[in-house]
Amino acid sequence: MPPQQALAIARAFLPKRPWGNRYDYYYTRAKLRTDPLYPGVLAALRDTPGPVLDLGCGLGLLAHALHVDGQPRAYYGVDIDASKIERARQIARRTGLKDARFEVVDLGARWPEHTGNVAILDMLQYLPSQVQAGMLAHVSRMLAPGNKLVIRSALGDDSGRGRTSKVTDLMAHFAGWMQEVPKSYPTRESLEGHLANAGLSATFSPLYGNTPFNNWLIVAERRAG
Ligand SMILES: C[S@@+](CC[C@H](N)C(=O)[O-])C[C@H]1O[C@@H](n2cnc3c(N)ncnc32)[C@H](O)[C@@H]1O
Repeated sequence: MPPQQALAIARAFLPKRPWGNRYDYYYTRAKLRTDPLYPGVLAALRDTPGPVLDLGCGLGLLAHALHVDGQPRAYYGVDIDASKIERARQIARRTGLKDARFEVVDLGARWPEHTGNVAILDMLQYLPSQVQAGMLAHVSRMLAPGNKLVIRSALGDDSGRGRTSKVTDLMAHFAGWMQEVPKSYPTRESLEGHLANAGLSATFSPLYGNTPFNNWLIVAERRAG
């Protein structure tokens, strides 16, 4: 993402007082500048009208990215981490994102209701494989004609990139950045199977950028007929 846009979004995550915690600011600034995630997702969603459900939304960065990209949409973000959801709510309010709402949801236990587009960014590996399959089947019923499911995921394989993704997620957990532990990395075959069983056709593209991770962008739509 262009540095000016990244900075504009990250500034909203600055603490109210100069001595407050700046972790969210530095994290979002670095992530938005260096990670090809948001340009990839914004491009995939650009020609698909309608609201966006963000499963495992973290701090709700996607809502801000859509806003600065000139894609005004209703946004619904859910995450298991109550602290992140509270911060996401505060920042969205402060930024004036009126159409953004957030809820604490454990996607291992239940799935929200929605009609429109769906994003699942860097979170599938936190669910067991059979829950991934069930959630993708549920999500497929949310997609109206023309809507898209956009997934970014590290794929599980024995490549150096695959190993780097797994080790980094574990480090994030032990460092306290991520409460949850990865449960099951989808492989390309498992994900293709889950999406096909859910009645979706999908395209897979590597989204490595300058990172060492095995990240892929998967864009799925309901199969015609
Ligand atoms: C790597 S972060 C990605 C956050 C956000 N999607 C992004 O791209 O910036 C993974 C997120 O998944 C959330 N998560 C993990 N397990 C979850 C679960 N069972 N239900 C809901 N959210 C979960 C974590 O709390 C975390 O915010």
